[in-house]
Amino acid sequence: MSNLGQLIEIPTHGDERGSLSVAEIGGVLPFVVRRAYWIHGTKPGVARGFHAHRKLNQFCVCVSGSVRIVLEDAKGREDVFLNRPDRGLLIGPGVWREMHDLSADCVLLVLADGEYDEADYVRDRQKLT
Ligand code: TYD
Repeated sequence: MSNLGQLIEIPTHGDERGSLSVAEIGGVLPFVVRRAYWIHGTKPGVARGFHAHRKLNQFCVCVSGSVRIVLEDAKGREDVFLNRPDRGLLIGPGVWREMHDLSADCVLLVLADGEYDEADYVRDRQKLT
């Protein structure tokens, strides 16, 4: 369970060939995707993130391997473990996020509703409202 983020089961079509998961508007995606990026090849012991966003919405899917995502706002902090390509984590504005314990084979896909904008970043945890 997650309160600071929303864990979402991604519709997955499985048959004898394997599985195909779908994220689309009208389905699990609550926004139009304007940017996609993915984190991979993470070196052992490295943690990433350590910021919040002012306006950005993101949908994170660990399409390979595993990652522990720490979410935090002024009211609390929690861990969310992602290790399935058929589950997504929706993170809205104002939520601090950190990515820890990325497995060597971790590929973390992030779909976002805005282009990269450094002005949208909050990098000072004390400024979380
Ligand atoms: P960074 O913010 O350090 O990633 P993380 O949040 O995972 O710690 O981003 C690494 C580099 O990539 C940094 O130079 C900014 C750049 N970048 C882009 O150019 N576009 C993007 O969409 C993102 C997320 C990062």
